[in-house]
Amino acid sequence: MSEPTPSLPTVGILGAGKVGTVLSRLLLSAGYRVLIAASGDPSRIALIVDVLAPGAVALTAAEVAREADVVILALPLGKYRSIPADLLEGKLVIDAMNYWWEIDGIRADLDDPRTSTSELVQDFLPASRVVKAFNHMGYHDLDEGPSAAGAADRKAIGIAGDDDAALTEAAALVDAAGFDPVRVGTLRDSVSLQPHSELFGANLPAAGVRDAAARFSSTERGREVAAARAGAPALRPR
Ligand SMILES: NC(=O)c1ccc[n+]([C@@H]2O[C@H](COP(=O)([O-])OP(=O)(O)OC[C@H]3O[C@@H](n4cnc5c(N)ncnc54)[C@H](OP(=O)(O)O)[C@@H]3O)[C@@H](O)[C@H]2O)c1
Repeated sequence: MSEPTPSLPTVGILGAGKVGTVLSRLLLSAGYRVLIAASGDPSRIALIVDVLAPGAVALTAAEVAREADVVILALPLGKYRSIPADLLEGKLVIDAMNYWWEIDGIRADLDDPRTSTSELVQDFLPASRVVKAFNHMGYHDLDEGPSAAGAADRKAIGIAGDDDAALTEAAALVDAAGFDPVRVGTLRDSVSLQPHSELFGANLPAAGVRDAAARFSSTERGREVAAARAGAPALRPR
């Protein structure tokens, strides 16, 4: 394993499962220093990290949040309120999470079309800059899909956020991981990257991601979201 590139930000990953370990590998290959945590003591993920993300440093979630410059959320969405919010103040936080009822249980708050799940995460992390990214592509495709910038048919990752500078930083990370970043709008618009949308599961080049995002409002899901948003405002827990 080569040494990290000192000029690159340190990336923290909360979640050492399927997505967290794939993203670790991709970013380690790109020269980033990667810190990774699961929910408990780092010794519990030592073997996983050795085998699936060699070179990443296993720490507690609090240590990762404190030490990393950029933090990727790769834990079950239903646990987002266990994220150490105070330690993420001022940081770029990349939300790769999705609502998956089989894992998260039936949660009306996470499945409300009036609010994207990244808006909920941003509400919970008010002092962080949240960008949705890396959520719509399955982990096998993430693992097998990276290619160099400019490669023909390079696969793309849709990203969404409210802060232009944060989007630029997140785009650089997506590019370094081996994918073309495609801006699809604000956190509110990131519903187009969530489950039930055409883009969810997409493993497409940039033009395909751009086109699917552009037609979201005319899809059945897009109309359902628009109708729900035209009604009563959503409850957004703080
Ligand atoms: N699977 C995919 O293809 C895919 C693709 C894109 C996005 N996603 C999204 O990415 C997230 C992770 O999915 P996954 O498939 O990688 O799940 P997974 O394999 O079940 O891994 C989840 C990881 O999150 C950790 N975790 C739980 N609570 C935590 C906390 N409070 N702090 C830090 N880590 C915590 C778990 O650790 P413990 O074992 O200690 O609980 C585990 O290491 C989900 O939101 C999912 O929707 C999944």
